[in-house]
Amino acid sequence: MSQSHHSNNPIKFAYWVPNVSGGLLVSKIEQRTGWDIDYNRKLAQIAERSGFDYALTQIRFTAGYGAEYQHESVSFTHALLAATQKLRVIAAILPGPWHPAVAAKQIATIDHLTAGRIAVNIVSGWFKTEFTAIGEPWLEHDERYRRSEEFIRALKGIWTQDDFSFFGDFYRFHHFTLKPKPLQQPHPEIFQGGSSRAARDMAARVSDWYFTNGNTLEGIKAQVDDIRAKAAKEGHAVKIGVNAFVIARDTEAEARAVLNEIIEKADTEAVNAFGHEVKQAGKASPEGEGNWAKSTFEDLVQYNDGFKTNLIGTPEQIAERIVALKAVGVDLILTGFLHFQEEVDYFGQRVLPLVRELEARQVDKVAA
Ligand SMILES: Cc1cc2nc3c(=O)[nH]c(=O)nc-3n(C[C@H](O)[C@H](O)[C@H](O)COP(=O)(O)O)c2cc1C
Repeated sequence: MSQSHHSNNPIKFAYWVPNVSGGLLVSKIEQRTGWDIDYNRKLAQIAERSGFDYALTQIRFTAGYGAEYQHESVSFTHALLAATQKLRVIAAILPGPWHPAVAAKQIATIDHLTAGRIAVNIVSGWFKTEFTAIGEPWLEHDERYRRSEEFIRALKGIWTQDDFSFFGDFYRFHHFTLKPKPLQQPHPEIFQGGSSRAARDMAARVSDWYFTNGNTLEGIKAQVDDIRAKAAKEGHAVKIGVNAFVIARDTEAEARAVLNEIIEKADTEAVNAFGHEVKQAGKASPEGEGNWAKSTFEDLVQYNDGFKTNLIGTPEQIAERIVALKAVGVDLILTGFLHFQEEVDYFGQRVLPLVRELEARQVDKVAA
């Protein structure tokens, strides 16, 4: 499918906010990354200066795959917005623990406090033990998505209408008017995370953005084509963000050596425990097509399959692969790094300018 309406927009960049401890790797390799607020404020400022558009927070209520400490996503998002000027920060929100009225109100207020730079990522959950720990019922895979879709419809309704009424299986509203409405019009952007058929169907109906785990170019293209075809039928437009763990080094050999060390030092017990938990997520979807359905041990060492996207090599190789992802319809790359502050800076200096050059050449080619 041609994505001509997208190809002239510069591809966007986001990074994972390390608001949970232990970095993004389930490995004992040194990760010079902090989960505290001081480290994260500085990281957000570096990212903003380096040309990143978005930062994505994570929501976790209990430990899993390590991640022993976890700061809450909405309050952390607010702190990062307060420390920056342009960066957009995406707050992860989990239906179940959050009620849509609470989320809508919190986010509307933060939108006013931060000149309209907040967004949300509605996630559907994969971690049964976590839900059990906080006394939340654990729904089946597709039921979780049915709830998330009602959650998003409720958010949009509350944010855009007065006298909002909604009668769903999970949520009900009677003539509810939120004041103030958010600053951003029509409303703050709504991202969602997940890759199963249920996730894609939901994206095609209600989400502004679909976030997916790392994957091969072919794996990404198949998802993009599916979603865009379904969205077209719904008269809906959805943008696509793809996760990638970036290892950019001056030589390919150096980058590969880092990957090898990450895998060699993998925390086998934690990776296997995580592999067991995620059977509740992707593999539990009726079609078995969700995140992690086909992940190997090595893939799981980066818990969102970030190695698969293969942004591992020299700045030139990485820039070319990013432009190839854009060519199959990807709008945003969600990045993760081993040593966040240092590597976000390197990415901004060495990789991003090459991406912009390649994009400019492609626009020239189209115009010629
Ligand atoms: C980019 C991205 C971010 C996510 N962030 C979170 C999160 O912060 N908390 C969480 O519990 N799950 C998070 N998830 C997991 C999703 O909620 C979902 O459970 C998982 O992707 C499996 O969905 P699937 O079966 O549709 O593939 C995230 C997923 C993606 C792709």
